[in-house]
Amino acid sequence: MLAEELESAAVASAAGTWQAPQLAVVVPSYNERENVPLLYEKVTAALAGIPFEFIVVDDNSPDGTAQVVKDMARRHPNVRCLHRIGRRGLSSACIEGIAASAAPFVAVIDADLQHDETILPAMFARAQAGDDIVVGTRYAGSGSAGEGLSSTREAGSRLATRLSALLTGVTLSDPMSGFFLMRRQVFDEVAPTLSEDGFKILLDIIVSATRLRQRKRATLTIGEVPYRFRARHAGESKMSPLIVVQFLGLLLSKLSRGLLPTSFLLFGMVGGSGVFVHLATLWLTHERLGFNFTNAQLAATVVAMTTNFVLNNELTYADKKLHGARFWVGLFSFYAVCSIGALANVSVATWIYETSPDLFLAGIAGAVMSVVFNYSVTRVFTWR
Ligand code: GDD
Ligand code: MN
Repeated sequence: MLAEELESAAVASAAGTWQAPQLAVVVPSYNERENVPLLYEKVTAALAGIPFEFIVVDDNSPDGTAQVVKDMARRHPNVRCLHRIGRRGLSSACIEGIAASAAPFVAVIDADLQHDETILPAMFARAQAGDDIVVGTRYAGSGSAGEGLSSTREAGSRLATRLSALLTGVTLSDPMSGFFLMRRQVFDEVAPTLSEDGFKILLDIIVSATRLRQRKRATLTIGEVPYRFRARHAGESKMSPLIVVQFLGLLLSKLSRGLLPTSFLLFGMVGGSGVFVHLATLWLTHERLGFNFTNAQLAATVVAMTTNFVLNNELTYADKKLHGARFWVGLFSFYAVCSIGALANVSVATWIYETSPDLFLAGIAGAVMSVVFNYSVTRVFTWR
């Protein structure tokens, strides 16, 4: 910056044209170039009179959303782009966007205009009046899923709400909402315990914050403001069956009180699916293709390791997915680790069987041993 520019910036702040943002509006984005400028206009209109900053967290979208946001940032002092390269994931994007702001209140809103920005002032007012977290809800009062969800997705969303109430004790009307506002202090309290995987950041924040406050014998006040979920403006949804499985992993992880990380549970689920792939290949090659048992077993092992690798790459480590040459290097390191894991499995199982000859106990202990081993080692060597 030139000396004159520095000076004029100092003058601007002395003259009071700059006001510290009271609210950070965090917008996770992936391929949303058509939507972000429109959202900014709408949020600006909605928040008239409230100093806010607009932080878009973009995972290097192929459509060039980050460039569009940076162009906006050249024209508007309250716009910023957090441009993440080689990373993916809605939850981690929200976490990093919130962490990048110093405002006393933070909101998260989708880029695609599905969330009704006109309720932001009401949400902000509730938080200022004392609520710790204020959730935009589609399932209470005048709220509705409107034209925003297909009937299958609405049923799925309601089922997920019930399931999460059952498993975590959260009784909000819409814990699946991606639209919320909170005191930054609440975020600072829970940030170290949040899971980076998946889509369901709000549920994670609420479960973690409730538990933390219970331990401190304090309460967590959650407010709800209803809204009508709109249809996506431009582009398409990034929701997928993989995200649903990641959500199940998150619920189980919270059930274990965070003792078992989501990625470990997903790794375990993938391992479980590998058993079926193994048996199916064994049957196919032996019964249908006439392989002898040893060759059939060998083929089944390779096929199951390969599907496990691909699934872990897509699901467990979707945030650091390996592509191109790194995919192949990763695959071979995965084969190597799993082979050593198999040895660990057999030695532990044998050792247990020798001390107390319980067939199933020994078998399960061996299998658990190899999951733990493969998980820990591939985290270091395969998905670094
Ligand atoms: N940075 C980043 N990285 N942003 C992402 C990613 C990602 O990997 N995946 C999705 N997003 C952004 C999208 O660009 C969008 O702004 C927002 O997150 C929501 O993604 P959508 O793809 O539009 O998801 P949806 O509409 O199917 O799901 C939304 O509604 C659900 C309620 O039914 C989300 O808000 C969910 O959190 C919410 O539960
Ligand atoms: Mn959407």
